[in-house]
Amino acid sequence: MRTLVAYFTWSGNTKEIAERIARKTHGKLFRIEREIPYSTDYNTCASDTVIFT
Ligand SMILES: Cc1cc2nc3c(=O)[nH]c(=O)nc-3n(C[C@H](O)[C@H](O)[C@H](O)COP(=O)(O)O)c2cc1C
Repeated sequence: MRTLVAYFTWSGNTKEIAERIARKTHGKLFRIEREIPYSTDYNTCASDTVIFT
């Protein structure tokens, strides 16, 4: 049985953890991406949440 580690990351923190989990489980990494990426500016990103969720 293979493990799929699907993750979403904005700043890279979750990517780091997902990579560690994938290494430990010999899982396959799959990055979930938004069709319209969040802004790299924190405040803009946080206010976008209200609009896009
Ligand atoms: C849409 C969105 C909304 C967020 N809102 C908050 C928030 O309200 N408070 C906070 O501390 N961090 C917020 N963050 C930042 C995340 O906590 C931060 O990115 C965290 O490191 C999650 O890991 P990632 O960067 O790999 O996605 C938000 C990030 C995104 C993408």
